[in-house]
Amino acid sequence: MLKHILSNTRKPDSSLSGSIILWSMNKGHEKLARWGLSKYDLSNKKFILDAGCGGGKNISNLLSITQNACVYGIDYSSASVKKSTEFNKKEIKEGRVKIFQADVSDLFFENESFDAVTAFETIYFWPSLCENFKEIYRILQKGGVFLVCNEISSEKDAEKWKKYIDMSVYTKSMIADFMKTAGFSDINIHSQPKNGWICVTGIKN
Ligand SMILES: C[S@@+](CC[C@H](N)C(=O)[O-])C[C@H]1O[C@@H](n2cnc3c(N)ncnc32)[C@H](O)[C@@H]1O
Repeated sequence: MLKHILSNTRKPDSSLSGSIILWSMNKGHEKLARWGLSKYDLSNKKFILDAGCGGGKNISNLLSITQNACVYGIDYSSASVKKSTEFNKKEIKEGRVKIFQADVSDLFFENESFDAVTAFETIYFWPSLCENFKEIYRILQKGGVFLVCNEISSEKDAEKWKKYIDMSVYTKSMIADFMKTAGFSDINIHSQPKNGWICVTGIKN
């Protein structure tokens, strides 16, 4: 039962388990996301994409720390897109938020569409990190930042979670290496050892 519920973290579906996971991700990832967002100043960014937006809470977090940004969200799960859309209904009406169903491996955005891309608790499920990071690089403007934030970042944690969830766990240095290979520079690594949280940022120069 627990395994069935947690398997929805990979791609939430329209079942009760999917709804529970989407609701709990919005609640449970809040502290981690706020910590990650404190590691890079996004306040002046104008076009931000939250990749793998889940229940949509991080979209509203991004709106709250920026002035006039337009925040986009994408997720390959229709249930995530539905929940994110409901969660940000007012801001979508105001034209400040746009949410689409899309896979990170095949983004329809034009080159250099965004000045920031964020990815919270999602790269565990991306199909090919090197290729997917290159796709993020493509859609970023020069000077744009890619911010990755995860709470599971060690082999020890991986052992615990992989019993329940089909996922790939990356250390902070693995993420930094994938960013470098994709073309990013000025890479900064942050960690919070108490919780195992990590945040890695890279710039498209
Ligand atoms: C654990 S949830 C995290 C959601 C949200 N970012 C948060 O921090 O609460 C992972 C999300 O990434 C999405 N996802 C996983 N692989 C994806 C892919 N290849 N393309 C787009 N979205 C993806 C899942 O559908 C799910 O909504």
